[in-house]
Amino acid sequence: MGTGPPEPLLSDAIIDALAEVYPPGELGEVIKALGKPGPRYYMRVNTLKADTGTVIDRLRERGLDARKDEHLPEAIYVPVRGPFELPEVEKEVVVDKFTAESAMMGSNVYVPGVLSFRGVRRCDEVLVVSELGQPVAFGIARMDEHEVLSARKGLAVEVLRPLYELPPIRELKEFKEGLIYPQSLPSMLASRVLEPEPGELVLDVACGPGGKLSHICQLTSNGARVIGFDRSKRKVAETREVLSRLGCEAAVVRADSRYLDLDVPSLVERADRVLVDPPCSALGVLPKLFDLKDRRELASLAEYQKQFIKVAAKLVRPGGVVVYSVCTMTARECEGIVSFAVEECGLEVDEQPIYIGSRGLPGLVERAELLQRFHPHLHGSGYFIARLVRPR
Ligand SMILES: C[S@@+](CC[C@H](N)C(=O)[O-])C[C@H]1O[C@@H](n2cnc3c(N)ncnc32)[C@H](O)[C@@H]1O
Repeated sequence: MGTGPPEPLLSDAIIDALAEVYPPGELGEVIKALGKPGPRYYMRVNTLKADTGTVIDRLRERGLDARKDEHLPEAIYVPVRGPFELPEVEKEVVVDKFTAESAMMGSNVYVPGVLSFRGVRRCDEVLVVSELGQPVAFGIARMDEHEVLSARKGLAVEVLRPLYELPPIRELKEFKEGLIYPQSLPSMLASRVLEPEPGELVLDVACGPGGKLSHICQLTSNGARVIGFDRSKRKVAETREVLSRLGCEAAVVRADSRYLDLDVPSLVERADRVLVDPPCSALGVLPKLFDLKDRRELASLAEYQKQFIKVAAKLVRPGGVVVYSVCTMTARECEGIVSFAVEECGLEVDEQPIYIGSRGLPGLVERAELLQRFHPHLHGSGYFIARLVRPR
């Protein structure tokens, strides 16, 4: 008997937040969907460097089942295979949440992600399990227990059979040459909904690691004045690396964007477009083994997001566009923030140029039918996009 995919374990706070969005009959399906990756693994073709057809041909030559998306010309995907049965073996390696969710998709386990390697010898067959005991992959130990305890880095388990299988995208020549960027479809859509144009001033106030920022450069053929801000030194460095690999021209500034209107007054009312993609509860990022956020954490994320919207409303020029996006589904972080943008910041909900997902949740804000939602059980990931305008 083998082991099947685990059900995600969610806190009461998260289940209650989801129950505000999904009726009882649908909630079980949503929770189940959170435990699996979506059926498609998406990548964006960097059209600054190559066209979609050429990249698909190159990936196919490498044996990847690369396919064109039906909606966005720069979006391609490979079907995700699995779930596979895992063999039952005696020894277990316990890993942290991030490592478990990566191993579940085929990544090897490295020393920093290991929580317990008890009784394991080099070359042992092991089951990789999460800290809650959920099996995610089968592999071979590449170190002894004492080596893992003393080493600070290195390969601890080579994963041979994960629950789900993805090609090693980041090891491909096409990735290293900056021809592809792994990114979900709704995340690509957010930059599309912003509709940046050459010659405009475009700000991304939470840019790290640069997925949407580089897409904005791509959509404007490096012809806009694009500035990305991020508070984290590491994210700023990662963003610069992404921009350079993809051949994108944008400035990246380390800053706390909540105070940009005060710190950089010359930007006030100057931006043609502002992208707000702030930290969120990330419930729509799949697969998820567990998520135990409490009520206070969920509430404080929404308060944090409001501060970004408030500053974006000040930076955008009259008639300019603000796009707000989050990879989550809670009403508070989605329609709740749009309601704040309308009531407290003077922005208006605008129609989006492309709809691929479902519409917004009615009742919390006017014109919710112009908002766009992606649902894990219907679309393979959870996401929310609002397009707002500052009246002239
Ligand atoms: C959801 S991620 C952005 C993803 C990015 N837009 C992309 O598409 O690749 C949120 C980012 O906000 C940054 N952040 C958090 N608080 C911030 C603040 N006060 N000011 C600026 N950036 C902040 C985080 O470091 C993180 O990189």
